[in-house]
Amino acid sequence: MKALILSGGTGSRLRPITYTFAKQLIPIANKPILFYGLESIIKCGIKDIYIIVGDTEKEIKSAVGNGDRWAANITYIKQEAPLGLAHAVLISENYIKDSKFIMYLGDNVIKSGVEKLVEDFAKSKDIDCEILLNRVKNPQQFGVAEFKGDKVVRLVEKPKKPVTDYALVGVYMFNKKIFEAVKNIKPSSRNELEITDAIQYLIDKGYNVKPHVITGWWKDTGKLEDLLEANRIFLEEIDCEIDKRVKIINSTIDGKVKIDFSVENNDVEIINSTIRGPVIIGKGSKIINSYIGPFTSIYHNCYIENTELEHSIVLKNVKIVGVKRITDSLFGNNVELLETNKKPKAIRVMVGDSSRIEL
Ligand code: TTP
Repeated sequence: MKALILSGGTGSRLRPITYTFAKQLIPIANKPILFYGLESIIKCGIKDIYIIVGDTEKEIKSAVGNGDRWAANITYIKQEAPLGLAHAVLISENYIKDSKFIMYLGDNVIKSGVEKLVEDFAKSKDIDCEILLNRVKNPQQFGVAEFKGDKVVRLVEKPKKPVTDYALVGVYMFNKKIFEAVKNIKPSSRNELEITDAIQYLIDKGYNVKPHVITGWWKDTGKLEDLLEANRIFLEEIDCEIDKRVKIINSTIDGKVKIDFSVENNDVEIINSTIRGPVIIGKGSKIINSYIGPFTSIYHNCYIENTELEHSIVLKNVKIVGVKRITDSLFGNNVELLETNKKPKAIRVMVGDSSRIEL
């Protein structure tokens, strides 16, 4: 088996973060989303991994590298424009050739892993495609499967009136028949080659498309609420781990709190603060006179002073001073949110396109 991970796309639902940053690299419990999928593929023993990249090619490559650290071979395939999931398959044929493969959307996370599924698909003689399904409350927002008995007969992309609540999870397994399918479909109304249309082609041709319903937790992290939920789920799993060298002065640390430490970065300092886990704090960050509440991930080199913050994700080099109280938020790299004594007392912002601020 080989693996194809999709890390291109537009990421329009996560603007403005995605104007300057790959959504697949947003950290969940301080680990980029993409690494969860990548590591579960590595666990399956798959060595040949192809990653589809778009405009954010450079940053994805620099975060992931060539696979040496996992003893895998990672090759990047440039997609000139986000022309759809099936288009990504189309441009991968020369790399994947006759091999069976798992296709994993780089912004999806499946908590239970996929080892058993990959093993069974690799062994199977008569299955052309296996789709993973999960029951959801809002099928209108997903590709949805319709059945006759236990056979899938139709896949509908974001149906207005869904017939079932079985949504397509962003992990698929294919053999080479999928290349025939992606060459025989037309772009949809949003001008993308849709993977649902390609799988529908397989169904209509009488190829064997097997549905597999997963019951464990899975998330497509295309929106802020989904990122916060994924962050919550993975923070619940962390162990309490605080390096002895972390400087903690006059502070209270409750529950599961993980604080990273590295000699190269200035060390972490927690001063006059309360940290109530689950919380993760990255290398070189400083928390002063503040409260950091449950389900918060703070990445490297952040500075937080006189602030109360919870249930949020904070990326690199963020500075927050004098803000009470922040919740359900995502801060991009290098953001500053500061209290000031300037007159008139007012809100002053320099905010990028498509930002959202709730006051
Ligand atoms: P989506 O989240 O469906 O699409 P998107 O990234 O364009 O986001 P939005 O809808 O918010 O604009 O994509 C799922 C995954 O597949 C994601 O990791 C991006 C990747 N992808 C590609 O690599 N190429 C593509 O042509 C598309 C559409 C997505």
